[in-house]
Amino acid sequence: MAKPSVCADLILQMGWRDACGPRQPLNRRLYHAIRRAIDSAALAPRSRLPASRDLARELGVSRNTVNHAYGQLQVEGYVCSQVGSGTYVADILPEAMLLSGGRMPQPPAVRQAVSRPGLSVQAQDLLAHASVSEQQWGAFMPGVPDVTLFPRALYARLHHRLLCHAGPGLLTYGTQGGVAAIRHALAQHLRVARSVHCDAQQVLMTEGVHQAIELVVRSLANPGDCVWMEDPGYWGIANVLRMQHGLHTVRVPVDAEGMQLPAGLPAPRLIFVTPSHQYPLGAVMSMARRRALLAYAREAGAWIVEDDYDSEFRFSGSPVPSMQGMEEDAPVIYVGTFSKTLYPGLRMGYMVLPRLLAQPLRRIHAELYREGHQLSQHVVAELIREGHYAAHIRRMRLLYGKRRRMLLGLIERYLGAAYLPAIESGAGLHFVMPLPEHADDVKLAAALRHASVLAQPLSRYYAGGQGQRGLLLGYGSVGEEEIGAAFFRMLKVLAGALA
Ligand SMILES: Cc1ncc(COP(=O)(O)O)c(C=O)c1O
Repeated sequence: MAKPSVCADLILQMGWRDACGPRQPLNRRLYHAIRRAIDSAALAPRSRLPASRDLARELGVSRNTVNHAYGQLQVEGYVCSQVGSGTYVADILPEAMLLSGGRMPQPPAVRQAVSRPGLSVQAQDLLAHASVSEQQWGAFMPGVPDVTLFPRALYARLHHRLLCHAGPGLLTYGTQGGVAAIRHALAQHLRVARSVHCDAQQVLMTEGVHQAIELVVRSLANPGDCVWMEDPGYWGIANVLRMQHGLHTVRVPVDAEGMQLPAGLPAPRLIFVTPSHQYPLGAVMSMARRRALLAYAREAGAWIVEDDYDSEFRFSGSPVPSMQGMEEDAPVIYVGTFSKTLYPGLRMGYMVLPRLLAQPLRRIHAELYREGHQLSQHVVAELIREGHYAAHIRRMRLLYGKRRRMLLGLIERYLGAAYLPAIESGAGLHFVMPLPEHADDVKLAAALRHASVLAQPLSRYYAGGQGQRGLLLGYGSVGEEEIGAAFFRMLKVLAGALA
């Protein structure tokens, strides 16, 4: 029989299964045991951890358990992995980084005395599901627009003019939920472009959809409340929900008509949906489902949170109006963003609140986050008022439509129709390329990163990482002249992996 590794020996001696309470999942218990071994320098910096397959066998657990524990240690900086070479204890531990600005590795004896980060249970849970990609630009990063074509000169001119003449009101904290100019311009734009029922009093400016969702959850949900979100759905929302103590999140399956209205689930306080372009699969929620969900929310006293995140880019079919605008006084909080139409780093989004909520949420927003960005809001208001915003969207829609068709054409020609999206939404900045059931899309995405292809694995968007296999392919951040080359790099990796 093979000799157990030093690492497995150490972990077994620690009584790792009982170390932090039997209610913790096995991967958490393993994570804690390895952390203790690292903190106490029993596992020295740069020492190699066993391969996950070997450690799983030695401890009598699944490989997934070990991979989860290793993944968490990596996210927090305790270990690093080198492709083809294995997983190693980090040279400089996160605590030492915090205390010394990352300059001085501390000797083991001192490290032992350094206090733990003491992260909350919610924060640890969030880190275990951290999904933000470090690289944000390149083929085929989903959800990123072509920021190279943002009308910089125009924006800079407007910004410069405003800044030169800005009075104190533009440079101190904001207090009105966004400057009046942008709230009026947006209300007008949303009424026309998205059929949203609103006036400027209902518009609240945020730092993007993420902040809007956080504000909604903090303001409207109590511990023990149930919230529904789509499955698969946007990991960003799932992570915001994770940070709210005591919330019970129910993942509701979607099909080609969007979120299915489930029977027998606990009544929700909040329902998060992407009706005009389901994220990430792309379905447009049918009229029947929308009506049923609106009726259900009224009956249950729930709020629907409609994330209309990239509705502006529709390349075929008729425009899909917002759900908020379908009924007078609909129980809908509408959220939108400039991240896809202008650029993500702008961090500018907006909410259209039901009248009842407008005043309190504006106040809570100001108290929680303090407001700012009045200058940028004025600039964007002018872009909207003068028609530049609509013109930019029209130009980008044509370009994205062309890129989408190019990429779909290459997939059909070289991989076959089975790899075309099951739901052809004809909209947005990405689509999902399905993969055979046996494919490991997470591994594939990692291999693609080495070939400079930033596709995202579909299974990660499902609760528990279990669901259909596929790759999210974005075409916003890759020019037409690069699409072919990036596709063939992807094809080479796919051919190797799926053979
Ligand atoms: C469904 C969905 N909503 C919202 C966002 C992000 O919005 P924001 O940048 O405004 O926070 C994303 C980002 O990709 C998204 O996919």
